[in-house]
Amino acid sequence: MFKHVIVRRPGRSLVEGITSANLGKPDYARALQQHDSYIDALKSRGVTVKILEADEQFPDSVFVEDTAVLAERCAIITNPGAPSRQGEEVSIREALKEFYTAIETITAPGTLEGGDVMRVGDHFYVGLSARTNEEGCRQFTGILNKYRYTASAVKLEKFLHLKTGLAYLENNNLLAAGEFIQHEEFKKFNRIIIAESEGYAANCIWVNDAVLVPMDYPKTKAAISKAGYNVVEVDVSEFKKLDGGLSCLSLRF
Ligand code: GLY
Repeated sequence: MFKHVIVRRPGRSLVEGITSANLGKPDYARALQQHDSYIDALKSRGVTVKILEADEQFPDSVFVEDTAVLAERCAIITNPGAPSRQGEEVSIREALKEFYTAIETITAPGTLEGGDVMRVGDHFYVGLSARTNEEGCRQFTGILNKYRYTASAVKLEKFLHLKTGLAYLENNNLLAAGEFIQHEEFKKFNRIIIAESEGYAANCIWVNDAVLVPMDYPKTKAAISKAGYNVVEVDVSEFKKLDGGLSCLSLRF
């Protein structure tokens, strides 16, 4: 179960964030409202939410998940692979000092973004992507091993991040989309297949026995409900415009 969540308020510079989505620029006022609702949805699951101030220097800094990977025995500060995002992790390290004494770091030439990391028990899957390279994965695995965790790499073909197309919902249940549906690595899970028309909805988050699901993906919502979960819908349309999803907007630990 998660006790804590860290989020960062979106800054006005959000509209300059990286995107491949072709959905236009986010509306800042709406993004703030959606961020409020996201925080409320998290709080409804019994976690405390630490809210960091907006960091205008970094347009994508609302997507805090990419800056750290958090486990019980250590926190790992990443080195984001997108050049415009390098430096976002500095203030996250400061924020994490309140919660962790063991804080490790991925360093250049290694790059790694938290969106490429999916935890299943004490094992961490690491997506090798345009943002996370082999050296980043090598360093990350070494750090995890030191704290008695394991890791394995998964090469990405099309997705931005590993968790763009996968979400682990505990109890061996895994949401899978696109290139991951038939991936050998994930066949051992009870896969809940995301319809091609709802690909964005693969990025859901399990939070204390409920699943936060993006608004307006009825097939995904029905499939997750059928698997026995409480579903909490959250509208994140303005973050979708920047390729961001529900997991990207928080660090949960
Ligand atoms: N816009 C989120 C990212 O590309 O990192």
